[in-house]
Order: sequence, then structure tokens, then C-alpha cells
Amino acid sequence: MRDPAFPHRHLLGIEGLSPLEISHLLDLSNRYVAFNRGPDKNSDVLHGRTIVNLFFENSTRTRTSFELAAKRLGADVINMQVETSSVAKGETLIDTAVTLNAMHPDVLVVRHPDSGAVKLLADKVNCAVVNGGDGSHEHPTQALLDALTIRRRRGRLSGLLVAICGDVLHSRVARSNFHLLLTMGARVRIIAPRTLIPTAVERLGVEVFTDMTAGLKDVDIVMMLRVQNERMRGSFIPSVREYFRFFGLDRAKLAQAKPDALIMHPGPMNRGTEIDSDVADDFERSAIREQVELGVAVRMAVLEVLAGNNAAHNSAGAAGGGK
Ligand code: NCD
Repeated sequence: MRDPAFPHRHLLGIEGLSPLEISHLLDLSNRYVAFNRGPDKNSDVLHGRTIVNLFFENSTRTRTSFELAAKRLGADVINMQVETSSVAKGETLIDTAVTLNAMHPDVLVVRHPDSGAVKLLADKVNCAVVNGGDGSHEHPTQALLDALTIRRRRGRLSGLLVAICGDVLHSRVARSNFHLLLTMGARVRIIAPRTLIPTAVERLGVEVFTDMTAGLKDVDIVMMLRVQNERMRGSFIPSVREYFRFFGLDRAKLAQAKPDALIMHPGPMNRGTEIDSDVADDFERSAIREQVELGVAVRMAVLEVLAGNNAAHNSAGAAGGGK
């Protein structure tokens, strides 16, 4: 059945979603958190559906999280290993998508190193597509799981002051988070060296800082980002030591934030580059492990909604009632 509270075919990004649509996905996800903590983790919500994970980039948590989410809902799941598939023989992105599409999957979860590639693919298939991260563009399920983590810990998103720190330039996580947090009424600061700040980012409505001490002052949430060496062509940071000294989160810098400020990181962490182990592993204040846990719940909600919408779309199409 088509979900009237989320009437979209795909989830390609957070940009453009309304506060009500975001809240709806978060509410649904929240129900799955309790379910995942219970003894019986199997449901048949997606029984008979096929989910394909198509990852053109390395991933540990996002891929396993989608796989687990689909399995817990009773779907059949296929993980496409891009290195061993025809892509390694030169098959194009679109050919791969069209080939997979011919096998009638219900949802394709796609990660790709190029910004925009997932949208391109979504236009060529007639199943639902979830963006599992495209280049430095968007990573919507990460922003949703971050929001769910904040909402469960703080009871709300609106009015909170969130600092997103580090390699903002290359980060799809940051971009999805800007859209989500600003849409939900939070205030967003970015803190980064000048070389890692996207141009004209202020136009989105975020405040920009190049100094951790000033930027972290009184924030409710400190979200650290990985330094994405694989996306850097040229030198963006002088050295790891210097980066850590000025932009790595440690106790001293954290002391500027609110005393109960929450520490977050999407993973994988570079300990000693952007974050000190001492704060990353702080049992009370770090929500990093919880983010991973809630990621499964968020992906269950997203797969459920999109698979339902897709079935409704295709049956309307079969009855001649729509495209
Ligand atoms: C992020 C990603 O891949 O964009 N990680 C993730 O999904 N858990 C962030 C990163 O790679 O730094």
C-alpha cells in the first residue's frame, strides 16, 4: 500500500523532504528500535520482496545494516559485489542497473563514488531506489539515523545547536544532515579548516567557524566527520598531527560545549586524526554505538515504506492507472 505520509518512489536525498515526512520516517524507525531489542527479530512485513544491495564503494556498516534490516523484515536480499561482477569487466552503471531491474527487485540500495549517479540510475529502473551514499552529495539514511539518535537522547531536534566538524567539503553525511537539521528547526554550525569548507555553504543557513574553541561554544551536539583521504586530490591538510591539534575532538576542546553535549560520528573513525579515543569511547556522552544500532531500525522503516509504495505504483501501472 502507498504510504500517504511519505508519497515518494525513491529516497535519493533529504533535500526537499518536508518536516512531516521526516518525522513520519523517524516515528516508524523508532518502533523498530524496540522490536530489534526484543528476542524475536523476524517479521514478515517484506515477505516475498527482493532487496538488492548494489555497492560500488566500500562499506561496512551501511551495507550490513541494510542487509540486516531487509532480513529482519523477511525479504530476500542479494549483495552485489561490484569487484567480482561484470562492472569489473567494464559494464556501465546503467547496464548494470537495467540488468538487475530485469530480475524484478523491489528495492535497489545503491552506493556510488560519483555525486548524482544514484539519481541517474533511479531514472532507468522501475523499482524503488535508496541512496546509500553518492560521492559527496547525500547519504539520507545516515542523516535519519543521526536525527533519531538525537531525538531519542534529547527529545527533540528543533532549537538544538549542532556543530558538524571536520571534512565537510567531501562529506555526504554533512550535506544530508544540513538539510535534515535545518528543516527540523535545529541550528547548525560547521567547524573546519578553510580548505575543507564548501563554497557558499552559508547560503544554506549554517554558521561557519574555522576555530574549534569558538565553534563548539555551548553546542548541544558535536558531530565529527571522517577525514576522507580517498576523495582528496591534492593536499587539504598539512599533517595528521597538525589536524588533530586544531580540529581533533579531545577533552579540552569538548569542554567548550554544553556539559552534557552528545558526541557523534558516522564511522568509520580515524582515531587520533579527527577524534581522540578518550571521547569516542566515553560511555555516557558518546552516541557512536547507538548510531549504528539505530541505523538498522531506520533502514527497516525506509525499506518498508518504499517497498509498499513500489508495490502500489506497479499495481496501479498494471491496471493502467499510472506510470
Ligand atoms: C559515511 C559514508 O560512507 O559516507 N560512513 C557511513 O556511511 N557509515 C562516512 C564516511 O565514510 O566517512
